[in-house]
Amino acid sequence: MNENKIVAILNRKGGVCKTTTTHNLGVALAERGYRVLLVDCDTQRNLSISLGINHPDEEQYTLCELLHPLVDVDADDVDIHNCIRHLENGLDFIPNKQALSALEKQISTLDFRRECVLFDALEDVRLDYDYILLDCMASLGMLAVNVMMVCDAALLVSTPEEDSIEGLSLASDFIKEASHALRKKIHVCGLLICRVDMRYRKSRIGIDKIQKLFAEEYPIYPEMVPDRVCVADARNKQVSIIEYAPESEPAQAYQAVCELFLREVGCYGSRSA
Ligand SMILES: Nc1ncnc2c1ncn2[C@@H]1O[C@H](COP(=O)(O)OP(=O)(O)O)[C@@H](O)[C@H]1O
Ligand SMILES: [Mg+2]
Repeated sequence: MNENKIVAILNRKGGVCKTTTTHNLGVALAERGYRVLLVDCDTQRNLSISLGINHPDEEQYTLCELLHPLVDVDADDVDIHNCIRHLENGLDFIPNKQALSALEKQISTLDFRRECVLFDALEDVRLDYDYILLDCMASLGMLAVNVMMVCDAALLVSTPEEDSIEGLSLASDFIKEASHALRKKIHVCGLLICRVDMRYRKSRIGIDKIQKLFAEEYPIYPEMVPDRVCVADARNKQVSIIEYAPESEPAQAYQAVCELFLREVGCYGSRSA
């Protein structure tokens, strides 16, 4: 059995390509025949919007409704299958809404099992998927603690920007603290650098710095995702760059990243291979 199936996509900063990576890695895995569930764990709901939900706050069943009865005994139980959307490209996902922010505060006030809410919520479908990718928010609060509790592995994502590198250090410390406090192993299955433009000194310096800080500790993927406007165009069209422009450099990079990811989590190649 694959022990790295629930993977948190993490950085302590926003705007550093977590959501783009979750989406594209999900599509690349689904193309290879893996059963993939993406969970939007960010109250900014960018993943939900990228996956075609224009008004996530108006949705009846999202991660928010799924977690609610686990926090509030008076709330009606929700079947997780009502919260899962099925896309034509084979991907499944659970959207999110802003109201999860208020619920997160409520989770923090629970007397027992406050770090296990997400774990319990996903329990029924855990075995239905080869990979469950959790698109995390930048803030590392109670929801992020829940993500640490349920995940087997974390994929760190960064741009070569100073801010993003600081976010990497904070996320790395958080994973270590969580592993220790929750008494579990969280395998960092890669560090991916995105929005790279080698023409600029700033990019080259940032990459060097990431190498210096993390190369001994984590597998930094040699494949990096270049900075291209087509990625933002794809986002606006609510499709992954892999589907929008499969021959583009970022799409090819995400395909290569998918192979590196699979190698790192111990399942190289396509599912049928
Ligand atoms: N390779 C890329 N080239 C150009 N723009 C990108 C690339 N990857 C992501 N972006 C853009 O960067 C912004 C932030 O990306 P996003 O994935 O939402 O970050 P996060 O989830 O970390 O906040 C988005 O507008 C996205 O379209
Ligand atoms: Mg995001």
